[in-house]
Amino acid sequence: MADRIFRAPGRVNLIGEHTDYNEGLVLPAALDLFCEVRASRRTDALLNASALNLNSSAFWKTLSIPSARPRGDWSDYVAGTAQQLERRGIKVSALNLAIRSDVPLGAGLSSSAALEVAVGMALVSYSGRTLGGAELAKACQQAEAEFVGLQCGIMDQFVAVFGRRGHALLLDCRTLEHRLVPLPAEVELVMVNSGVRHELASTAYNERRRECEAAVRILGRSLRDVSIAEWPDAESALPEPLRRRARHVVYENQRVLDFVAACERRDLTALGRLMRDSHHSLARDYEVSCFELDFLVETAAAIDGVVGCRLTGGGFGGCTVNLVRPGSVESFRRKISAAYCRRFGHEPAVYVCSSADGAREIAA
Ligand code: GLA
Repeated sequence: MADRIFRAPGRVNLIGEHTDYNEGLVLPAALDLFCEVRASRRTDALLNASALNLNSSAFWKTLSIPSARPRGDWSDYVAGTAQQLERRGIKVSALNLAIRSDVPLGAGLSSSAALEVAVGMALVSYSGRTLGGAELAKACQQAEAEFVGLQCGIMDQFVAVFGRRGHALLLDCRTLEHRLVPLPAEVELVMVNSGVRHELASTAYNERRRECEAAVRILGRSLRDVSIAEWPDAESALPEPLRRRARHVVYENQRVLDFVAACERRDLTALGRLMRDSHHSLARDYEVSCFELDFLVETAAAIDGVVGCRLTGGGFGGCTVNLVRPGSVESFRRKISAAYCRRFGHEPAVYVCSSADGAREIAA
């Protein structure tokens, strides 16, 4: 039988950082960087996965997937997703999965969500069952939280399923209501990779999550339910550093709404200001930036044609997202690369991307 190919995109988050696991709002866009899974049936009872970029493969007996344990490498995303699907009554078939990805690893562009969703879609499809997009996203998120151990929110997996070309996705992470927001035609998405991959990122990420939970316990309500008008009262109840963590989340939710309104009225100045405020809040209050990311943001802000810039994703390294006027993309790339190289001794990878559609099966 012919191979079948499933692919899912990486993503960039335009604004709404560390709000997803606080029942808040996010505005990511799927990117035209993809994880592609070529699937074919096997006649034995094994699920075999090969990561072609890494020259590495792994297999599991399909019957043992419900009790599979993490191995501490890329294959955990595959096994974790398979296990979550089994828990939802979806039997994993004996398959070869040949995986190739051009989503850069560890760059904060959600290579892991792209892998989970592409694998998940392949497994569901071969099982002969169907699963709604939101359920698929949830299964993939739980794979990451429970099997891999990063207590992430739903943003990355959700946009990997529901993203649309030409659009960002406004997602309410409490209700999973979502709507597409057209991206302003006056800007391109340019990501600059600091190349920093902090070993402690997942530990610090989980710690931030616990700090927010502690703030919620003290306030007796979700940070989503604290408005900016109520903040002065709320903040007096919180000790540091919980006060700063919560402040970031409360204001960031409002920035998402303001950003969407600014997109709709094509107010590029407001977009730039909101991105700057988001970055500063992430750096000072949430403390998830690093020296290299701050350098990239400060440098980009002074380059002609840059409408806005901030760190994107979980932080502690990875990429900045820059909204750049189309005529300035090449000079931006040159200038930011040269400045980074002067400061840190190596050129950063720069990705000029289009927004893309969410996960789907493509012609083999
Ligand atoms: C990572 C997580 C997401 C989200 C972001 C921060 O990308 O996977 O769920 O929490 O960090 O906004």
